[in-house]
Amino acid sequence: MAKVLFVCLGNICRSPTADGIFRELLAREKLEHKIQVDSAGTGDWHIGKAPDARTVAAAHQRGYDLSVLRARQVSVNDFAEFDYILAMDKSNLMDLQRMKPSAYTGHLGLFLEFGERDDYREVPDPYYGGNDGFELVLDLVEGAAQGLLNHIRSNSFR
Ligand code: 4NP
Repeated sequence: MAKVLFVCLGNICRSPTADGIFRELLAREKLEHKIQVDSAGTGDWHIGKAPDARTVAAAHQRGYDLSVLRARQVSVNDFAEFDYILAMDKSNLMDLQRMKPSAYTGHLGLFLEFGERDDYREVPDPYYGGNDGFELVLDLVEGAAQGLLNHIRSNSFR
């Protein structure tokens, strides 16, 4: 069993999108019992809240249901639990690197390392922008989700 945690700032836009899309991909591939998925935010403002309505609507248009997800804050205990902790941007990654126990042997890095687009290394925060930002999050996450699954398949199930 591989365990994957997606992390952004608020856990209401980017990381729930990654959570829902990766979960859907696993269900399609019948791998939901082999790979566990969760998401969290570095911040505490939205704990217990559903994802942002714009995020839910944009994802719904592409066939993903994010409405059941609830925000939580990442904690040091997550490093004992998750093999992959994947940050949406460099600021999230720096916050996670500060929390990381020295004994952590999993993979902490940027989610888009698993994507194939050279023009984006980070998933831009859509919170204060227009609808294009939410579509861009979906595009970037869909691409990297497939790359991540290919990576885990070739590294974890041998
Ligand atoms: P997320 O987006 O990190 O993708 O969930 C944000 C959500 C809320 C805030 C910032 C980013 N905020 O400042 O409340």
